[in-house]
Amino acid sequence: MSPARVLLDVEGLSKHFGGVQAVLDLSFQVHEGEILGVIGPNGSGKTTTFHLITGFHRPDRGRVQFNGRDITGQPPYEVCALGLCRTFQVAKPFPEITVHRNVLIGALLRQPDPTMARSRADAILRRVGLEERSAMAAGSLTTIDQRRLEVARALATEPKLLLLDETMAGLNPTEVDEAMRLILGLREQGLTVVVVEHVMRAVMSLSDRIVVLNQGSKIAEGPPREIAADPRVIQAYLGKEYQRA
Ligand SMILES: Nc1ncnc2c1ncn2[C@@H]1O[C@H](COP(=O)(O)OP(=O)(O)OP(=O)(O)O)[C@@H](O)[C@H]1O
Ligand SMILES: [Mg+2]
Repeated sequence: MSPARVLLDVEGLSKHFGGVQAVLDLSFQVHEGEILGVIGPNGSGKTTTFHLITGFHRPDRGRVQFNGRDITGQPPYEVCALGLCRTFQVAKPFPEITVHRNVLIGALLRQPDPTMARSRADAILRRVGLEERSAMAAGSLTTIDQRRLEVARALATEPKLLLLDETMAGLNPTEVDEAMRLILGLREQGLTVVVVEHVMRAVMSLSDRIVVLNQGSKIAEGPPREIAADPRVIQAYLGKEYQRA
């Protein structure tokens, strides 16, 4: 297999909040077409890393390159326009307007023709299983449907690289299977995906590689099988049940 092109290159990223070192000297790469898992205990810096990559926080140090271009500190809308979009762990839809409009706003970024943008929004809502809730106010969705909407809004902007922050939290096993199928389908379509997830069954089976964070630093990186057997990862995060993996 020829080495895939580096789509995202994160180098030496650091961020502190007061006395808390949320991310420390973090470097990793995401290759075009891969699914990269990012795991680690609560508070290990996963969401902050997404914030830093997508311009919601400015790093204290370090550099983010996307698609060959330095995007460090660029505002989120510019990063999104370049094709790098993320979901939020706590959903952030426009609560007063309909589910459909929330997705339409994203679709209009690439498709200025309103009729075309509308049908694109319809297709995405079907894809994430929200077509029947299309006319509801986004704020009245259940937490799980709000998470689906997060994914739909991100997809509407037609990203090359999609960062998913715990989109499977609280899903039942059938819904986790559906979410996994969706992510694999996106990759087949040519998207590159980074998943932050605590649902180990999903991360282990979806990811080509996994990066493990602990207290803001990377403690391991490699294919799922190696990560599941890594004593540092077992000690910091996975616990003993993974020792047999
Ligand atoms: N805006 C903020 N202000 C102050 N501290 C913050 C802020 N955002 C994150 N932190 C702190 O930074 C550290 C990393 O938090 P982060 O949310 O990135 O972790 P996480 O790995 O996403 O955790 P979880 O698995 O619980 O979502 C934590 O100690 C957190 O309390
Ligand atoms: Mg988080």
